[in-house]
Amino acid sequence: MDITQLSTWQQLETQARQMRGRHLRQLFAEEPQRAARYSLELPEFLFDYSKNLVDDEVLVNLLQLARDTDLEGLRARMFSGAPINGTEGRPVLHPALRGGLPDPVELDGGPVADLVETELGRLKEFVNLLHNGGVTGYTGRRITDVVNLGVGGSHLGPEMVIGSLRAYRRDDVRVHFVSNVDGAELADVLAGLDAETTMFAVSSKTFGTTETMTNARSALRWFGELAPREAVLQKHFVAVTASPEKAREFGIEAQRVFRFWDWVGGRFSLWSAIGLPIAIAVGFDRFRELLDGAASMDRHFHEAPLEKNAPVLMALLSVWYCTFMRYPAHAILPYEQALHRLPAYLQQAEMESNGKSTTRAGEEVGYATGPLIWGMLGINGQHAFYQYLHQSPEVVPADFIGSVAPGHDLEGHHEILLANMLAQSQALMNGVDREQVSAGLAARGLGEKEIEKLAPFKVHKGNRPSNTILLRRLDPRSLGALVALYEHKIFTQGAILQIYSFDQWGVELGKGLAAALQPQLESGELHHQDASTAGLIDYYQRVSKGAPAPEPAS
Ligand code: F6P
Repeated sequence: MDITQLSTWQQLETQARQMRGRHLRQLFAEEPQRAARYSLELPEFLFDYSKNLVDDEVLVNLLQLARDTDLEGLRARMFSGAPINGTEGRPVLHPALRGGLPDPVELDGGPVADLVETELGRLKEFVNLLHNGGVTGYTGRRITDVVNLGVGGSHLGPEMVIGSLRAYRRDDVRVHFVSNVDGAELADVLAGLDAETTMFAVSSKTFGTTETMTNARSALRWFGELAPREAVLQKHFVAVTASPEKAREFGIEAQRVFRFWDWVGGRFSLWSAIGLPIAIAVGFDRFRELLDGAASMDRHFHEAPLEKNAPVLMALLSVWYCTFMRYPAHAILPYEQALHRLPAYLQQAEMESNGKSTTRAGEEVGYATGPLIWGMLGINGQHAFYQYLHQSPEVVPADFIGSVAPGHDLEGHHEILLANMLAQSQALMNGVDREQVSAGLAARGLGEKEIEKLAPFKVHKGNRPSNTILLRRLDPRSLGALVALYEHKIFTQGAILQIYSFDQWGVELGKGLAAALQPQLESGELHHQDASTAGLIDYYQRVSKGAPAPEPAS
């Protein structure tokens, strides 16, 4: 299907041109009920999408686009276990990991729910044993530190969730993360650890990722002569993987290998055994609450009518901005310290899923797909890049995320935090015009000439759209719902824009080249390199062999 030929598509193109001439202030003035009509209250949060550059006519067409592109059909196929990851021939069943499927699904002759529950049972048993001091190292001392060795989806989800649930963290076992093949990261983590009480979780869907396997081998070497290799592997290593046979080959005992399946994408895997570090950090029961929260979002996504469906609305707005309004970026701005890794997590979730330019039919897309996702804690961003959000010629739609209940008991902080969040979305929406700026400067006693000179720099055009997601409180359940909200948003966006959201071929080329370059970097013997790469390798070779630096240019 060439979606650009749909009449809905063409109407949306026209509406986007018209909307560029309108202002959010105007939209609010025209519709006094806008905030109430363009908000959704779910059990875990309020989703306010009223500060977006849309009106009823645009929304009607966006919803029609979702219907024209058979979003509901693809959603049904996902939930029923059909192989909708077309280039890899796999189902996409991460909702099954949290009991979020509307109907039972069987794969390879068995119910998926049974596979999931069996593995969760194993995880629970192991985590409880660890918390009870029953998991010990080669000298019999209890394990107190677990280092997750994993990258991408085998790192970002667990790290983000543990950070987000800081208020629920147990203090008997500490969790650390090493994702980088730059040995500096592993070295720093190891420097603070005692080999007798440290366990490594090698987390890798494929159990073949260079970064992770290099770190795993170095971790094994770290034990040196302290104990026989078999004892170290038996007592100090667990694996989480969809390739259990490779973990066994590495030498990790079968009962210490926790598995998930190829129908779980790496960036959607935190609900699987990849969540082992989460269950260790906050306890298995809290992990289960996280899964329950995500399952409640699965049900909402599956059941709610499209016009009242939070992930669908979020996705439609994203399609509207990225594809029709041609705003190429989107900012994630949490006003909650604990959510500090959410932007990085969502960067992988969204950009690895929808950063593509081939349709499901194998054609080159003729439109923009997913936006560039970026962001950081809102408060810190205010003192860093918000200048750009407010006054750059580029418009960057944003998601503001906060919670009503503070995650601490220090007085006087939370209101300042939330007031800032509300103020920023208000300022982005309304801006401040020349007249207001001049009046403000006059009130401060500035003369006409000074006002004339300064005013242009202080004008904020406003009209910069945002969503606000206000959680009741940040807890395992609401976090689960929040993350699943984004997952289904990503799915919906890919479904409408006709792309395969669950493969990631774009990461393979660089991996292959790195593998080929490594021996050339080491030996200096170059094979078919471009001039730039050859020059860089030559410099590396010369400097690593002690070539002196040139005299500074005079
Ligand atoms: O290189 C990208 C990627 O394949 C991600 O999709 C994945 O989450 C990450 O690498 C890690 O892969 P693995 O879990 O197989 O080590």
